[in-house]
Amino acid sequence: MAARNPEGTLRVATSTLRKVVAGLDRAFVRRHPWLIHFFNETVDHRDVSALMHFLAARKPLRDGEYLGQYEEMFRDAIDPAGRVFSFGSARMALYALLEAMDIGRGDEVIVPAFTCEVVIHAILYRGSRPVYADIEPVTFNMDVAKLPRLVTRRTKAILAQHTFGVPCDLDGIRAVVGASRIKIIEDCALALGSRYRGRPVGCHGDAAIYSTDRTKMLSTVSGGVAFTRDPDLARRLRDIHHRAPFLSHTALANMSMQLLGGSVCFWPYLYPIGWAAMAVGHTSGLLFRLPEDKVRFVTPVNYPCRFSNVQAWLGIHQLEKLQTVLSRRQTSVRRYREILAGRGIANGDTSDFTLRFPLLLRDRRRFIRRWNRYFEVGTWFDGPAFGWTGDLSTIGYQMGSCPVAEFVHSRIVNFPTHQTRERLERYLCEIVDSIRPEDVATYSD
Ligand SMILES: Cc1ncc(COP(=O)(O)O)c(C=O)c1O
Repeated sequence: MAARNPEGTLRVATSTLRKVVAGLDRAFVRRHPWLIHFFNETVDHRDVSALMHFLAARKPLRDGEYLGQYEEMFRDAIDPAGRVFSFGSARMALYALLEAMDIGRGDEVIVPAFTCEVVIHAILYRGSRPVYADIEPVTFNMDVAKLPRLVTRRTKAILAQHTFGVPCDLDGIRAVVGASRIKIIEDCALALGSRYRGRPVGCHGDAAIYSTDRTKMLSTVSGGVAFTRDPDLARRLRDIHHRAPFLSHTALANMSMQLLGGSVCFWPYLYPIGWAAMAVGHTSGLLFRLPEDKVRFVTPVNYPCRFSNVQAWLGIHQLEKLQTVLSRRQTSVRRYREILAGRGIANGDTSDFTLRFPLLLRDRRRFIRRWNRYFEVGTWFDGPAFGWTGDLSTIGYQMGSCPVAEFVHSRIVNFPTHQTRERLERYLCEIVDSIRPEDVATYSD
């Protein structure tokens, strides 16, 4: 009888299992390219296993030691001379900043006419008025030349958004602000890791917000921070932050379970089960959600709320790999650009589109019809307040006021820049490769 060798048997069994899993993975992913958007999150199996350790050690979900550690790490990634306050989301961080700056009823905040509705909600919840600025057709950032005519004596802040990772013209914005008391708040929700004049975005204005929602550069499922180097503002923010409630224990336990459950979806051959579970969770309202955030001009309950210990733990692991994620995203962008260049399409003059890779198409609807069966084509931002389906005038936008932005709204598509599956990455490249020069739209006055 052969001598028993448990370690050897275990090794063989593990390696066989790994090969079977890899085979199934290959077969499944090849046939189901629509999985693309499920694999472009930055939470991977290592983060999930860190979360399991956290839960097994019975660490507190809400308040705890990791919050301070996370805020310090975040601060060091921007500027060690500043202060960071973590919130349930970037929109909440913005709300808190506006409050700390005493911006409220009757005040005006200038925003690019190319943002997400939740940004507008935060301004409206403060009782302030969003004023929309037109954008540039290449970087999709605020067109500084058109800013001066929007500034009035009610203007209290300008939201300098760095779209998809491309830094906006901060020098130009500063020149418009001049010696006035108008605050510059950098919206770095889409640009963690980007630099302007050699320094990280976020440390050039009076304050900044960042998002770590699951679709952003790094994911803590939901989350955002406010950053400032102004000690007076930091003091006011600290008070607001201390007063803010934590999300409930149940909501956070739910979020953790969702993350663990969601990791089932990372196993392609179990994907239909995971998908069914997620669908049931969604329809039954059992899945984790931030406090209801649909503008009725009334601030929702638990808004703004604080970030949690369990998310901070996840965030620490995410921040550790910021540079790796960034360089992977840059590689994707380079690949897309090379493909397009091979077809004679020059896509702008910047390679800083680290979060999403955008393109303007003459017939977006046809492109979406062709590909949406396989992959959710991104249309960030197909309106001045992406996601807003009501009458635009109720959120202060007048049609025709921002012609470049409106040109872009109806033509933009964008692709993820973070794929964990090589096969899906190749598939995305094939989609980009299907675009011909005559499909591409360019803005001209
Ligand atoms: C440009 C921009 N700023 C801010 C936010 C708010 O981020 P959060 O979802 O963390 O509130 C978003 C959300 O997508 C965004 O697109």
